[in-house]
Amino acid sequence: MIQHITDDLYQIGEHVQTEHGFEAVLTYVILNDGNPILIDCGSHIHRDSVMAQLNELLGEAIPEYLLLTHSELPHAGNIASVAEKWPNIKVIVSNVMLPYIEVLPVLPLKQITQVVPGTKIELKSRTVEFVDALLKDQPGSHWIHDSRTGTLFTGDGFGYMTDSAGSQTVINGSANEVSQTAFEVYHKIAFRFLRWIKPERIAEDLRKMFTKRNVQVIAPIHGNAITVNITGHLDRAIAALAAVNASYKK
Ligand SMILES: [Fe+2]
Ligand SMILES: [Fe+2]
Repeated sequence: MIQHITDDLYQIGEHVQTEHGFEAVLTYVILNDGNPILIDCGSHIHRDSVMAQLNELLGEAIPEYLLLTHSELPHAGNIASVAEKWPNIKVIVSNVMLPYIEVLPVLPLKQITQVVPGTKIELKSRTVEFVDALLKDQPGSHWIHDSRTGTLFTGDGFGYMTDSAGSQTVINGSANEVSQTAFEVYHKIAFRFLRWIKPERIAEDLRKMFTKRNVQVIAPIHGNAITVNITGHLDRAIAALAAVNASYKK
């Protein structure tokens, strides 16, 4: 389902059913004044649906960039179809991703750029910054900040399950805010290392990341975009990480 988030930012995607609820597998699309940018490209298991949604949203516009948060299949698995449809697309990945994915066989190497955290690129009316993913399930994960919409694309971070496959509604009011429990359930499954973290340290790093940048939208791949009460959601995600950590010590 295509959902408008804010300004020129949209989410598309599908869900998979798990024993804990429905897990979104999203792709974010920034229209960027006729030179669209994709953030991740969905799973190969949703190929037909994702491509149909991309075609509907983009029309004749040709995406210029695909920015991958990391290389797992729910994030990069649809890359062969994207490359086939838009063979000139440029892909930006984090530094240790290339050996693991199919980017090399489907696109010429000159169209692939590896970046390190801190890299900023100017794309028309926006600056896109690649930042170290504070929650990562692969060493090469990075998060991405878009200056124009104030969106932080958080890969697997800030994910949460929804109650039904049709729950693709952007979080845009107090009625559908994400609870601490929802963050807890997801993060416990997605980040098996949480038993070893120092919760106060990761809380401090997350707060610094959000303080340093204009964050109006949190955009997880496994959960609808969050556009309200950013501070409250950050607080709840931080509390959820601490609760997961504590759950191993009981
Ligand atoms: Fe992942
Ligand atoms: Fe993921």
